[in-house]
Amino acid sequence: MDPGESFERDFARVGSWIAEYLRDPLRYRVLSDVKPGDVEAALPRSAPEKPEPFDRIMDDFERTILPGITHWNHPRFFAYFATSAAPIAIAAEALAATLDVKAMLWRTSPSATELESVVMRWLARLLSVPENWTGVIYDTASIAGFTALAAARESLDLGIRERGMTGRDDLPVLRVYVTEHTHSHVEKAAIALGVGQANVVRVACDAEHRMIPDALERAVARDVASGMRPLAVVATVGTTSTTSVDPVARIAGICRAHAVWLHVDAAYAGIAAMVPEFAWLMDGVARADSLVVNPHKWMFVPMDCSVLYVRDEAMVRRAFSLVPEYLTTTDGDVRNYMDYGLQLGRRFRALKLWFVLRGLGAEGIRDRLRAHVVLAQEFASWVRARPDWEILAPHPLSVVCFRYRPGVDGEDELEELNARLLAAVNATGEVFMSHTKIEGRYALRLAVGNIRTGRDDVEAAWNLLRREAAGLARAARSGA
Ligand SMILES: Cc1ncc(COP(=O)(O)O)c(C=O)c1O
Repeated sequence: MDPGESFERDFARVGSWIAEYLRDPLRYRVLSDVKPGDVEAALPRSAPEKPEPFDRIMDDFERTILPGITHWNHPRFFAYFATSAAPIAIAAEALAATLDVKAMLWRTSPSATELESVVMRWLARLLSVPENWTGVIYDTASIAGFTALAAARESLDLGIRERGMTGRDDLPVLRVYVTEHTHSHVEKAAIALGVGQANVVRVACDAEHRMIPDALERAVARDVASGMRPLAVVATVGTTSTTSVDPVARIAGICRAHAVWLHVDAAYAGIAAMVPEFAWLMDGVARADSLVVNPHKWMFVPMDCSVLYVRDEAMVRRAFSLVPEYLTTTDGDVRNYMDYGLQLGRRFRALKLWFVLRGLGAEGIRDRLRAHVVLAQEFASWVRARPDWEILAPHPLSVVCFRYRPGVDGEDELEELNARLLAAVNATGEVFMSHTKIEGRYALRLAVGNIRTGRDDVEAAWNLLRREAAGLARAARSGA
């Protein structure tokens, strides 16, 4: 197959398509409005036997696939954690796909391995992660968190790696401590690691949705007294619903006193610690055992790229290293990243991180993060200024939880009203927002995080919310 002329032409079409897409994203609906099954129904039941021309495939991409895309790269995507890809990182992804390395052994691409180590140190420095911690790139925070908890389990010296957990009566019950605001991947990790959902302990939170250290201390002491073995505490810096920040420094003190592994999940908010005003996000982290931050969330690196830092990398290797004959090498003292997780072959993710760090510069990233926080705070001030709207949680970063409350008091009615409002706003296709529940109260959530989002976009979201809310109020008055 000759990649020559036709590849250049085809890739040029892709390049122009990407450039046009990024230039004018507003022409797309943010939230796809296809119905379940529409995309599948538009596609043939079998793969073609004969090669098809590139232009026909691209045409079908535009005609059939694109309508079913929810545009995460759209500046008016405000749902979940809004994330986005910087153009320079998109270019890096194309290069990584071209090289298509499997960065598992040093020799399977020395540059992939060594660049990963270098960018891990660069990022650690920017975030004030201790210099002697080791950083490894995974696909997602869920897998990074699972890996940290597997290392924590290994650190207990219970012989689980060799002998497993089944059929043994010499193992204590293992416990993992979280809060109701901890991301659900921790519970999944507990399931996968044989800890069990019932042993994920939800520690009480204060009025600002942060873990109460005294409650943690009591829970750990109670469990130890009854013969259980605390495996890990997971503290969150930037919880998924409200971006609350657990008091990591105090939690770290408790973990140290009881020799319990502390994993800090800063998947969304951790990157902001590179901004001096938000350096406090890392308070206490140096006394933890592991930390996850997601460049694919708030650092303009496209999915996927999640970074795990660990104090003791040997524990991760002890949990995962397994070298069959065909993967032994004579390369000497080198890092083989296959030793740091379940996965063997690994994508060359360090490349896009390198491109972003260089292309935007730390200053460029900081400026954008600051701008996002300013936009979210401004949005919150608009909400606060209106008597028929209310803020539902502190909003230290770039996410605001709020609701429409036009003289209605019952929680059920407020939930119904706000759910209808959210549906109406999202149905316009102009913006996309999501919701959460905070202590049983239904909350709309506006998350700013897209590299292309500006004040106009946030203002458009606010105007749309008020317009649709007024429509609902009018309909209610007329009994519709
Ligand atoms: C705090 C937190 N941790 C972990 C995750 C999981 O992230 P990932 O999709 O990288 O697994 C999320 C997702 O939003 C999150 O908010």
